[in-house]
Amino acid sequence: MTFNKAFLRSTTALSQSPAWQALTQHFSDFERANKGFNLNQAFTNNPLRAEQLTAHASNISLDYSKHLITEETLELLLNLAQQQDLNNKIQALRCGEKVNATEDRAALHTLLRCQSEDNVPDHLRDEYANIVNVKEKLKNTSNDVYNGVLRGYTGKPFTDIVHIGIGGSDLGPAMVYQALSPFHRSNIQCHYVANICANDICETLSLLDPNSTLFIIASKSFNTLETLCNANTAKEWLIKHLKDEEAVAKHFYAVSAKPEKAQAWGINPQCVFPFWDFVGGRYSTWSAIGLSLCIGLGYKHFNALLEGASELDEHFFNTELKNNIPVIMGLLGVWYTNFYQRQAHAVVPYDHRLRRFPQFLQQLEMESTGKCANLQNQPIDYDTCPDIWGEVGSNSQHSFFQQLHQGTEFTPVDFIAVLKSPHNLAEHQDWLIANCLAQSRALMLGQIDDTPGLERHKFMPGNKPSSTLIIEELTPKTLGALMALYEQKVYVQSVIWNVNAFDQWGVELGKKVSNTIKLAMDGETGESLDPSSQAILQRYLKAKTSPLP
Ligand code: F6P
Repeated sequence: MTFNKAFLRSTTALSQSPAWQALTQHFSDFERANKGFNLNQAFTNNPLRAEQLTAHASNISLDYSKHLITEETLELLLNLAQQQDLNNKIQALRCGEKVNATEDRAALHTLLRCQSEDNVPDHLRDEYANIVNVKEKLKNTSNDVYNGVLRGYTGKPFTDIVHIGIGGSDLGPAMVYQALSPFHRSNIQCHYVANICANDICETLSLLDPNSTLFIIASKSFNTLETLCNANTAKEWLIKHLKDEEAVAKHFYAVSAKPEKAQAWGINPQCVFPFWDFVGGRYSTWSAIGLSLCIGLGYKHFNALLEGASELDEHFFNTELKNNIPVIMGLLGVWYTNFYQRQAHAVVPYDHRLRRFPQFLQQLEMESTGKCANLQNQPIDYDTCPDIWGEVGSNSQHSFFQQLHQGTEFTPVDFIAVLKSPHNLAEHQDWLIANCLAQSRALMLGQIDDTPGLERHKFMPGNKPSSTLIIEELTPKTLGALMALYEQKVYVQSVIWNVNAFDQWGVELGKKVSNTIKLAMDGETGESLDPSSQAILQRYLKAKTSPLP
C-alpha cells in the first residue's frame, strides 16, 4: 500500500489561520532580532520575571519564567487559544459533549472525581449517580478485603493483591501505588502485572501464597490479549495450588466496561466492578480501575487522590486562560513543537517515588495527541505530540542530561520538585533540591570555557528552556492534582491541534498484525510474510525446539 504525500500531509485551516500566521511571523522576528532570545538577559531586564511568570493551582505552582518567551509570545499564544475556541471546548469537556468524535462519545473522567453534586451539569445527574454507587461499592469491598471480612477460598485473609491490566488499565494505578508508598497499608501489598512476557507474572507469583492472593483483572474491553493471557495463567496457578475450580469465585475480581465478558470468563457477578464507555482507558485511574488503590492505600486516600484532581479541574474550568496552568503548559508545548520544531519533551521528577510518572505520561500524551488527522478527517501539515520521555532526578543527570546540555538541538524539560519528604534525612533532601535547581539553571546559563584544546568540548550554549513544577509534599491529593494537570494540558493541546485526544486507532494495526503472525507461527495460514519477518520467525521456531543449555 502506498500513499501520496498529499494524502499524508496537506495544508489545513489551522496552519493558514491568522493566529498561527501571527505566531510564525513572531517566531521569525524573534529569531532574527534576538539571534535566539537570551533568557539570562530577560531576567536582568526584568527582575520581576520569575514572579510574573509563576502560576498557582490547587497545591501546585508552575514557574515558567525560564522559557524562550516574551509577553508578546504569550499574548499571541493566547490569541491562538481564543481562535481555537478553547474556552468553549473546555466547557464542552466539562458538560459531557461528545468530544471523542470518532467514537461518538463524551469523555467524562472529570465526573468520576467530581466531589460535589453542585458542580455536576443537570443532564449528567444519572451518570453521576451511577458513579457514586460504584464508589460506595469500592469503599465497602476494599474495607471488607482489608479487614478480612472477605477472605480466600481456604479462609485466609488476603495479604497480596495482583492487579492484572495493561496500558491505561495499568500505568495509572501502578504509578500511583508506587508514588504513595508512605500511605501503603500494613499487612497487604499490591503488585502490578502487565507484560505478556511471562517473566512479569512468574516473578510476581513466585513471591505469593495462593491462599491469600486476590487477583483484579482490569480491562475496559475485557478483550486485551496481554491481560487475558496473564489472567488465564493466574487462574491456572490458583487452581493448581488450591486444587479446586470453585476457588476462582473467591480470588478473582474484575473491573470492566464489559461486565458480561468478565462474567463469561468466570468472575463471580458480585465481584465485577463496572465502568463506562465515556471513560477513556488512559483516563481511568479515577474509576473502579483504582480498586487495588482502594485496598492498598485505603478508600480515604483513594478519594483524596480524586479530590486533588477535582480541585485542579475546578481551576481548569473556572480560571481565565492566561492564569490557567494546564493552558499555559499546553501553549508552551505548542510554541516549541510547532514554531521551534522541537519533537521531544522531557519530564524529570525529583522524587524517587515518582519514578514511573514519565511512563504514565508517555501513554497519556502520546496516545492522546500522537495523531496526524484533524477532527475533520483531514491530514494535517503541522506537528502534534512530541516524544515524551524522562526519568527520575538525580539519576537521569548521570545518563541523558549530557545530551540536554550539549546535544545539537534543545529539548524543553519539565522539572518536578517535591519540597518535603517523609524521611528526615535533610542532607539527602537538600542535595536533591539543589540538583533540581542546578539543572534548570545550568541549562539556562550554559558555560564558556577557555581550556586550550577543549574550548568547544566544554562549551555549553545554555539558553535552554524548562518549567519547574513545585509541590510542597507528595500526598494523595497533590498527586491527583498533578495527574489531572497533565490530563488537562493534553486536552488543551488537542484543542489547539484540532485532534481527538480520546481515541487510539494507531494501536490497532499492531494487534491485527500480531494475530497474523501468530497464525503463521502455528502453521495455520498461508499468508506470506515479508522476508525479514519470515527469517526472524523461522529463527524463533528453531530456537523454540532447541532446549536451553
Ligand atoms: O492498546 C492500547 C489500549 O487500547 C489502551 O488505550 C488501553 O488503555 C489498553 O489498550 C488496555 O485496554 P483494556 O483496558 O481494554 O484492556
